[in-house]
Amino acid sequence: MTRLLILGSANADHVMNVEYLPCAGQTLLSQNYRLEHGGKGANQAVAVARLRNSNTRVDFICHLGNDAIGEAMANSWLSDGIESDGVSKQSDFATGTAMIFVANNGENMIGISAGANASLTPKTLEKHRQLIFDADYLLVQLENPVVTIVSALAIAKEHGVTTILNPAPATVVGKELFRLVDIITPNETEAEALTGIEVTDEDSAKFAAQMLHQFGPKTVIITLGQQGALLSCEGFSGIIPTVEVKPIDTVAAGDTFNGALMVALSEGKDMVSAVKFAHQAASLTVTREGAQRSIPYRHEIED
Ligand code: ATP
Ligand code: RIB
Repeated sequence: MTRLLILGSANADHVMNVEYLPCAGQTLLSQNYRLEHGGKGANQAVAVARLRNSNTRVDFICHLGNDAIGEAMANSWLSDGIESDGVSKQSDFATGTAMIFVANNGENMIGISAGANASLTPKTLEKHRQLIFDADYLLVQLENPVVTIVSALAIAKEHGVTTILNPAPATVVGKELFRLVDIITPNETEAEALTGIEVTDEDSAKFAAQMLHQFGPKTVIITLGQQGALLSCEGFSGIIPTVEVKPIDTVAAGDTFNGALMVALSEGKDMVSAVKFAHQAASLTVTREGAQRSIPYRHEIED
């Protein structure tokens, strides 16, 4: 059995649809408000659970608050078949919160309060060592303390686990993190935050990818929204286009991409095919509203 592990955040997403994204000082009337199950880690875990084959076990290491939304999220992950050993409720914290504006053109703007996500420390990670040892792949993001992410990656590398870092949201991190990463998957903004190179086209994306390789990761994938993704790895460097769709809401597009990528690689697909599979999954996500709600199932990709 293949074992896929995600370590990351869970957030209650408070989403407002607005005509366009507000600028500083502006108040906009929302056309629609909803509370969604989100958080980059949880979205990626759900993507993996829905896209994997039946011979794969999915574990998620995450801290929730001791509240109704945390309980609801934990229950919905169980129905997606995510193992609960790594999920714990923290009585002194609220579940993480995200405030999200989604504009009519599908673009979004997000503010986050970490809540229980901040309580996932290297000490609390100790009890999950075995889950990390047993994994074939570990996927992490940057919505938990960076020191915890570094610890998890270090444990993984000691045990030959393949590591994927989705460096989102854009955060300044020490370079020691990158030496523990096999595959890094920033979007354009995150690539610029990490390298100082503004990613505007294929050449600048390749330039940023070269710098990211120098930090450590052998494979760099810079996601480029509707342009697809720049893949830079041994034997390949170029843009792989995504599927053309009409975007409704791009929340969780990057998360679906990362989950799908890990699934495809764990099934033995080569990098190019894995990126194409990730595009198929993520392009479906952008045609639907919501975070976890919008993530497709394997049969939808195969159909
Ligand atoms: P988000 O933060 O909105 O979840 P992101 O900024 O992390 O996403 P993007 O680079 O915007 O990541 O998109 C990730 C992937 O999602 C793309 O590589 C592509 O596969 C898919 N995608 C995003 N937008 C579109 C689109 N308009 N049409 C088709 N596919 C898309
Ligand atoms: O990537 C999308 C996610 O980012 C949202 O679900 C929100 O919770 C933020 O973490």
